Amino acid sequence: MYAAAVTRMPPLMRAAPRVRAFASSAAAQTAVDRVAVIGGGQMGAGIAQVAATHKHDVTLVDVSQEALERGKAYMAKSLGRVAKKKFPDDAQAQGRFVDEVLSRVALSTSPAEAAGSAGLVIEAVVENIKLKQDIFAGLAAAAPEGAILASNTSSLPIAKISEQLSAARKKRFIGLHFFNPVPQMKLVEVVRTDEADQQAVDDAVAFVKGIGKVPAVCKDTPGFIVNRLLLPYMMESIRLLERGVASARDIDAAMKLGAGYPMGPFELCDYVGLDTIKFIVDGWHKEGKGLAGDKQFAPSAKLDELVKNGHLGVKTGRGFYEY
Ligand SMILES: NC(=O)c1ccc[n+]([C@@H]2O[C@H](COP(=O)([O-])OP(=O)(O)OC[C@H]3O[C@@H](n4cnc5c(N)ncnc54)[C@H](O)[C@@H]3O)[C@@H](O)[C@H]2O)c1
Repeated sequence: MYAAAVTRMPPLMRAAPRVRAFASSAAAQTAVDRVAVIGGGQMGAGIAQVAATHKHDVTLVDVSQEALERGKAYMAKSLGRVAKKKFPDDAQAQGRFVDEVLSRVALSTSPAEAAGSAGLVIEAVVENIKLKQDIFAGLAAAAPEGAILASNTSSLPIAKISEQLSAARKKRFIGLHFFNPVPQMKLVEVVRTDEADQQAVDDAVAFVKGIGKVPAVCKDTPGFIVNRLLLPYMMESIRLLERGVASARDIDAAMKLGAGYPMGPFELCDYVGLDTIKFIVDGWHKEGKGLAGDKQFAPSAKLDELVKNGHLGVKTGRGFYEY
């Protein structure tokens, strides 16, 4: 069923760049038709899936056919779940829905080819500044002039990723920070650098609304909004544990039942991944703008030990808890 959809995927290149101007009164309308997503891991595949679900033609790019097949399998599985909810008693309608969405996703190993006709390019490769800068140098040479270039980075400054680009490219370079799992999580932080122009932010906001998500616009500072508030909370929870104030289970119960949080801090840490948390706080403590040397983000012996032993949370079967 899914294989059939994939063979019907649209051709990569279309003649005209898919960017169009729109009147500000048509706020819900998006200026972007065709989207290229660079990096087909859990975030990239999720973004591609959601954009295609909302009628965008999408090209998903990764380094190998194998990686692309993994991304496609992720989308097919996730879409299957969506289809079951949408058409609970109709297997044929479920299949049609999945095939139709997948038919709007082309797969490619060429970022330049994918970006060549895109109105929006979203980068979601691994969290490495040099790799991201190199990718954007290539994308800037290939994408249509008015295209929005966006990074899904969680922890790197958007202005640093784009620092080598031309002034014109920087005007339409922003952060589009999706949350995991993308199909379920409603929020997208729209991160504006000092160089981004208002039109680019408006276009990005319209795109985000058009794919059924809720935008929150913010400045390009470490952690944007959500992680800037979550990381101190997570680190302070770990320090409570280290000081022997309470057990992880009791701290989690306290925050769920006393503060109304859906997950406790240790459940959340394990879900996010302890290596990811360590990577972010170590970076902030070392060189985060306005955060370097801040004792909130100083290394934690407990966190370091868990990461050193490979106990990274849910994904390795053990973190603060066992799974
Ligand atoms: N995982 C999360 O919870 C989360 C949430 C928000 C944002 N992010 C950010 O999203 C980005 C991707 O994270 P992820 O969790 O999807 O990672 P991932 O490891 O699941 O996927 C990364 C993908 O990028 C591909 N890739 C590597 N080099 C590439 C290249 N040169 N060209 C094209 N593709 C390449 C890899 O093959 C892989 O498929 C990171 O910047 C991360 O900070 C992650």
